[in-house]
Amino acid sequence: MATNITFHPGSVTATERAALLSQPGLTLWLTGLSGSGKSTIACALEQHLLHLRKSAYRLDGDNVRMGLNKDLGFGQKDREENIRRIGEVAKLFADACTIAITSFISPYRADRDLARSIHTQARLPFVEIYIDVPLQVAELRDPKGLYVKARKGEIPDFTGISAPYEAPKTPEIHLRTDKLSIEECVKKIMEYLVEKRYVV
Ligand code: PPS
Repeated sequence: MATNITFHPGSVTATERAALLSQPGLTLWLTGLSGSGKSTIACALEQHLLHLRKSAYRLDGDNVRMGLNKDLGFGQKDREENIRRIGEVAKLFADACTIAITSFISPYRADRDLARSIHTQARLPFVEIYIDVPLQVAELRDPKGLYVKARKGEIPDFTGISAPYEAPKTPEIHLRTDKLSIEECVKKIMEYLVEKRYVV
């Protein structure tokens, strides 16, 4: 724990930065089971926003675990630290007036709430998006063959099989990916962003 540290504010306020760059920053927090479609939606959404000339950047579970969080596993404490760090990184992107799109299982409600509070303290919007699919459908999709391995007991603490997933109770956006296409999911997220004037 660091002591004797003092926050150093910049010469440009958050409001000025957003006005100068003509874009407010925010975080779109996608949460859902493995195989729910988080990464696919995040990619499509990032592409859509970039083609509108909006600064958007994805933070993805597998990718971040190859670098920043390569020291973390899948036990509850490590997942908590994973999500805490991502919450902090997403906040920095949002503070820099980018639309941070995070796609992490983030199975624990308390961890997602912490990520939200990190943003709220910094007065940055945090939009929780529940990428919802029945477990049976995720298991049928099994894009990486992980559910088969988890059922055989080859992957410990696998979300939905041997570790919990706590579904959001009041997400800002709820998408059923067994009922909606990727394009429809992106459209619904965009409608929300325009309605809230996060994207103009
Ligand atoms: S978490 O729960 O938010 O900390 O997980 P996350 O950082 O999003 O990483 C999830 C990806 O890791 C792979 N993987 C596992 N997922 C769940 N449980 C276990 N035990 C596990 N082991 C490896 C898997 O590829 C997840 O990616 P997605 O895209 O969700 O399938």
